[in-house]
Amino acid sequence: MKLTTNKQGLSGTLCVPSDKSISHRGIMFGAIAHGVTRVHNFLRGEDCLSTLEAFRALGVKIEDDGEVITIHGKGFEGLQKPSAAINIGNSGTTIRLTSGILAGSNFSTEMYGDNSIAKRPMARVMNPLNKMGAKCTGKDGGEYPPITITGSENLQPIRYEMPVASAQVKSAILFAGLQANGETVVIEKEKTRDHTEDMILQFGGAIEVDDKEIRIKGPQTLHGQTVVVPGDISSAAFFLVAGLIVPNSKITLENVGLNPTRTGIIDVIKEMGGKITIEEVGENNKSGKITVETSNLKGIEIKGEIIPRLIDELPIIALMATQANGVTVIKDAEELKVKETNRIDAVANELNRLGANITPTDDGMIIQGKTALNGGVVTSYGDHRIGMMLQIAALLVKEGTIELEKAEAIAVSYPNFFNDLEKLYT
Ligand code: S3P
Repeated sequence: MKLTTNKQGLSGTLCVPSDKSISHRGIMFGAIAHGVTRVHNFLRGEDCLSTLEAFRALGVKIEDDGEVITIHGKGFEGLQKPSAAINIGNSGTTIRLTSGILAGSNFSTEMYGDNSIAKRPMARVMNPLNKMGAKCTGKDGGEYPPITITGSENLQPIRYEMPVASAQVKSAILFAGLQANGETVVIEKEKTRDHTEDMILQFGGAIEVDDKEIRIKGPQTLHGQTVVVPGDISSAAFFLVAGLIVPNSKITLENVGLNPTRTGIIDVIKEMGGKITIEEVGENNKSGKITVETSNLKGIEIKGEIIPRLIDELPIIALMATQANGVTVIKDAEELKVKETNRIDAVANELNRLGANITPTDDGMIIQGKTALNGGVVTSYGDHRIGMMLQIAALLVKEGTIELEKAEAIAVSYPNFFNDLEKLYT
């Protein structure tokens, strides 16, 4: 599709879509808890709908009245063998977290997805779950989907030092740990998003977190709750950056989730010299209103413990760095290679095609600013976040137009992205 360019700047207020990570977990916790769970502000993006359908296929009654999602959970033991293999679409969160839930089942489940899912590594979840007593196998004995999870009703606890910084892997082990006989200990490589830990507590479970060490005793019984999903900072990120780099802009984003394990992009914006204010911070600092305006940015180094706190924002941060003065170096981000696409290559290829100067490295990229961007034909590679980043890039193009291939991928996390952008045209 032909992307919009913009000559006048962006202004206005948006309420960004609901958090994807919390929406997935709302369905999952509702399904494994006893009693009714109601999820308000559920994200109706393709990924979260894949989770909803997966748990229906596992025998859970889930109602959607167009507003609230109501889940009638019957505990882990209430899950039933699906009548066919489950299609999880493009959703890594669905396949990995559901594997942990199914690790304690008394049946086998096959899960498969699209071409991108077929290339995403699963050994990272299958190894610890197999150590606990489940039997997880990938296609042709390898680690890639389709995968089959054969549960064990006699799961054993483990002490597991994670080889990767991944909230999906951590969460899969915690879901299995809730069903194991004894104390499971997970030691994180770096601290990652902690929505699963938060929701175990919210649903009446017990979990101890001491920095990177997490302890959970099984078996536990959870109880249905009301979940109100805040806005997704990972979706807000596209408009935060747009407001900073498109000349003559000022954008306010309302109800943005501010869980500290997710706010790395705010730290980066501040360090780069961006004009950003955060107000109306709600209960428990969970969400707030963020305003950004066009700023003179400078290049910085982004590495180490902050990386998991902004892992999904790195494509749009890379675009921001093309508009900053000086060099930005991103390190310790090799996980970008195993996202919906190889995001190091995708960002460098597509932005360089438009005139940026980005050198991909083994664990990140080196971005030389400030560069002018021109028109051209680019692709999202079927990756929602690459697609949205390229639309924000298009707003900077002075000469020519940008044609985006595979734009439909954006519906994975932000079905109203283009409508929301249109609301900001001055
Ligand atoms: C997610 C964890 C992250 C993130 C993904 C959502 C989650 O993946 O990139 O978009 O909800 O747990 P990894 O665990 O692979 O880092």
